[in-house]
Amino acid sequence: MSETRHDSIRAVEWTDQGLKLLDQRVLPLRHEHVLLEDVGGVAQAIRDMVVRGAPAIGVTAAYGVVLAAHDCYGRSSATWKQDVEQDLQLLAASRPTAVNLFWAIDRMRAHIADIEGDPTGGLLAEAMRIHEEDIAANRRMGELGAALITRQCAVLTHCNTGSLATGGYGTALGVIRTAYGEGKIERVYADETRPWLQGARLTAWELVEDGIPVTLLVEGAAAHLLKQGGVRWVIVGADRIAANGDTANKIGTYNLAVAARYHGVKFMVVAPTTTVDMSVHNGAAIQIETRSPEEILTIQGQRIAPRGAEAWNPSFDVTPAELVDAIVTEKGVVTAPTVEKMAAMMGRHH
Ligand code: MRU
Repeated sequence: MSETRHDSIRAVEWTDQGLKLLDQRVLPLRHEHVLLEDVGGVAQAIRDMVVRGAPAIGVTAAYGVVLAAHDCYGRSSATWKQDVEQDLQLLAASRPTAVNLFWAIDRMRAHIADIEGDPTGGLLAEAMRIHEEDIAANRRMGELGAALITRQCAVLTHCNTGSLATGGYGTALGVIRTAYGEGKIERVYADETRPWLQGARLTAWELVEDGIPVTLLVEGAAAHLLKQGGVRWVIVGADRIAANGDTANKIGTYNLAVAARYHGVKFMVVAPTTTVDMSVHNGAAIQIETRSPEEILTIQGQRIAPRGAEAWNPSFDVTPAELVDAIVTEKGVVTAPTVEKMAAMMGRHH
């Protein structure tokens, strides 16, 4: 597989000084890192979008648990396992939709139960495993998703699902990277993704760095683009996939799925099984984050809407499974997802 420069970009990095996050709020104009030494800072960084993207949030939270356990054990080696629970709750309250957050906290909690003595080393090793497994899953999904693209075409993606949104390489952007390397993609169209502009700032940056041709559009232009032909696949990530295949992803994804079906364009969701929540029967039960109206009423701190105007700012929407042609996970591909097919895929050994 061809290596690209961007594969080496890491949004989340453990260092001897603490957890180092690439500040995604200011990319690509500024490359700044935030160094976090305690769990409160980690929860805040997730809430404030320093780090974002479902798998990257999960990996970050896992390292946050390491910092929390280290501090709790330092304060009381007798009661740290009870004490740390409050910190796990703090992390869990940072953002509600991406299930990778809760999955990572649960996995670290299970590890805590088995630990005796100083927890730092053991928990750090577990967090690093979570991180490495995510990168490996992305590589595998890259191959599986690229195999679905049978002839050269343009593709459209939404939000950022690349190295920045994951442990590394990316989900939907991982498929795009692999398929481009195989000569199957001639151009990537990227929605700019209001209000945080993940498409314009982050996806375009990753693709430009990798030398993959990218064209930005406002998401309002997407249906018009799909009408022209040329784009054969819409490829997106997910924040949570319900047991029936309903998919929560960045606001505007549902619009894309409706427009894609109308225009005969295929719709692919790429996400690791850590994004699948089998405890949620369908998308109606997925909690959708609503963020501050200020994100809509202002642009980079500058007010653009009149005083008195209100704003509605849901961060995610749910695409019904019937509009999804394929869900790609590291355990395999589910076409035309149903409860039965999803359960069979989840039960499969990797
Ligand atoms: O609000 P964000 O930037 O965290 O939203 C991210 C998305 O919606 C991504 O598409 C999703 O997390 C998949 S990332 C591999």
